[in-house]
Amino acid sequence: MERTKVVVIGGGPAGLLLSHILDLNGIDNIVLEQKSRAYVLSRIRAGVLEAGSVDLLRSIGLSERMDREGKAHDGSFIVWAGSEKLLIDTMKYTGREMTAYGQTSITEDLYAARDNAGGQIIDEAEDVKPHDLVTEKPFVTYFKNGQEYKIECEFVAGCDGFHGVSRSSIPDNVLKTYEKGYPFGWLGIMSETPPLPDIVYANHDRGFALASQRNENLSRYYVQCDLDDRLEDWPDDRFWAELKARFPAEFADAIQTGPSIEKSIAPLRSFVSEPMCYGRMFLAGDSAHIVPPTGAKGLNLAFSDVYYLSLALTEYFKKNNYTYLENYSDVALRRVWGAARFSWNLTRLLHRFPSDDAFDQRTREDEMAYLSRSEKAMAAIAEQYVGLPYEH
Ligand code: APR
Ligand code: PHB
Repeated sequence: MERTKVVVIGGGPAGLLLSHILDLNGIDNIVLEQKSRAYVLSRIRAGVLEAGSVDLLRSIGLSERMDREGKAHDGSFIVWAGSEKLLIDTMKYTGREMTAYGQTSITEDLYAARDNAGGQIIDEAEDVKPHDLVTEKPFVTYFKNGQEYKIECEFVAGCDGFHGVSRSSIPDNVLKTYEKGYPFGWLGIMSETPPLPDIVYANHDRGFALASQRNENLSRYYVQCDLDDRLEDWPDDRFWAELKARFPAEFADAIQTGPSIEKSIAPLRSFVSEPMCYGRMFLAGDSAHIVPPTGAKGLNLAFSDVYYLSLALTEYFKKNNYTYLENYSDVALRRVWGAARFSWNLTRLLHRFPSDDAFDQRTREDEMAYLSRSEKAMAAIAEQYVGLPYEH
């Protein structure tokens, strides 16, 4: 049996970031991750950081590699067959920028920081279970190599993603969930080719497409695909032809193709669970919410949750002030719902839905025309895209 102040369930970006910030504040914690480190680091996920996420990484000394390999952008483009390209100009309207830097790199940086600090991360922890969450003495059990272990703690942080055990430990009569499914998926590839200079979202009759990047020789591209599509339906040649078909020539001609080094299909989902706490357990990241990737909010919401939760736990352990913990769920959810609404809206604007009729498409086109002529509308998109300031 062990004892610590906070057990963090989940060793993804949310769990590792929380563990690191707690450690910096002298708060003992143990991370329980069900997968191997190699498996966690093999995941290809998000790639664009809000200004607030960059500030957070900088504030905890984790910006050296991001500054070296990441790429800051004054804005991202929306392109639209037959219309002028539209720049979501975050620099002009907010003075802030988005930074292209892959989640995989961030997770690598976080693991390295935890190792350097002698952090306790238990990989391949099986059957992790939180217990007695509504008492003053919660504890967590898990198995490793056939041996059962128990960790007594003061708080549990549920950072175990959408399919984790934390959210499901909240009784049905306490938890309320909100969900929206989308009738399409994103087929994403990674190629060792120079990316376009900017992040470019495309709406086209054939469907949505996105050009993004990880570094100067690593490109990330996506096309909207049917939910029942399989990877074998999309050989590289078909992917590149379809991607280029969805961009205006100015961008399509600049796309440098090459063999895919990673290819995956992900369904899109909007999901929010309330409250983001139960007794002495607090949820952060995908364990509490999922957004469609259109607005690049998933990783950034995990960061803002962790910012609020680490602040609340530090207030408790250093000043015996429970107020921030009491307010955590409400504060985090205000930002979650803002991002969930923004992501849903942008997904609705940029994709073609099988159920669309002519009215839907014409109103979509009008919204794009309105954006292109209204500075105020563009400023609203820009401030939400770059991320609203964290509440203090
Ligand atoms: N016990 C221990 N660990 C678990 C359990 C469990 N029962 N269930 C899941 N995990 C681990 C997963 O293996 C994963 O490593 O929890 C981690 C959760 O990490 P993520 O799913 O990456 O979620 P989060 O840290 O909140 O990061 C959110 O990651 O999934 C992307 O799009 C998402 O960019 C967003 C970011
Ligand atoms: C990515 O680079 O993976 C990416 C970029 C922007 C998005 C979503 C994903 O909106």
